[in-house]
Amino acid sequence: MKKILKLVVIVVVIGLVVLALSQLIVAPLKTNPLVVSEPKWDSPQTRALAKRACFDCHSNETVWPWYSNVPPISWLVVSDTVRGRARLNFSEWGQGRVGAGEISEVIQEGEMPPAIYLPMHPNARLSNLEKQQLINGLSLSLGQ
Ligand code: HEC
Repeated sequence: MKKILKLVVIVVVIGLVVLALSQLIVAPLKTNPLVVSEPKWDSPQTRALAKRACFDCHSNETVWPWYSNVPPISWLVVSDTVRGRARLNFSEWGQGRVGAGEISEVIQEGEMPPAIYLPMHPNARLSNLEKQQLINGLSLSLGQ
C-alpha cells in the first residue's frame, strides 16, 4: 500500500512539473503584436460588435484572461488565438484570408464565437439582432 501511495505521489509531482514547464512554451505565444491595419469600418457600432464577439481570437488586441496562465487551460486559450489570428485577423487586414461571405456564414450559423468561449465571456454572446447588425456592418466594411 505504501508503495502505491509513493508511486501516486511521484506521478502527480511529475505531472505538475510537466504542466508548469509547458507554460514556458505557451507564455511566449501570448503576444499582442502591433495593430497594422483594420478594415474600413462602416460604423463604430460594427467595430464594437466585432470587438465584443471576435477580437480576442481574431485581432492583435486580445484580452488575455488570468486562466491563460494556468495550464492546461492556457493551451486551449493560446491555441484558439494563434489559430484564429492565422485564419482571420482584424488587426492585420488586407492580407486576404477570409471574405465577408464566409464570415457572415459562421456568425449566422452560430459557429463563431465558439460555444466553449461563451460561458467565460457572456458579453460576447450576440442577440439575433446584433448578429444581423454585425453581418450587415461587416459586409459593408469588407466591401462584399
Ligand atoms: C475563442 C476564440 C474565437 C472567437 C471569440 C472567435 N473565433 Fe473565429 N475562429 C477561431 C478559431 C480557433 C478558428 C480556426 C478554426 C480552424 O482552424 O479550424 C476560427 C476561424 C474563423 C473563421 C474561418 C472559418 C473557419 O471555420 O475556419 C471565421 C470566418 C471566423 N473564425 C469568424 C469569427 C467571427 C466573425 C467571430 C466573432 C463573431 C469569431 N470568429 C470569434 C476562434 C475564435
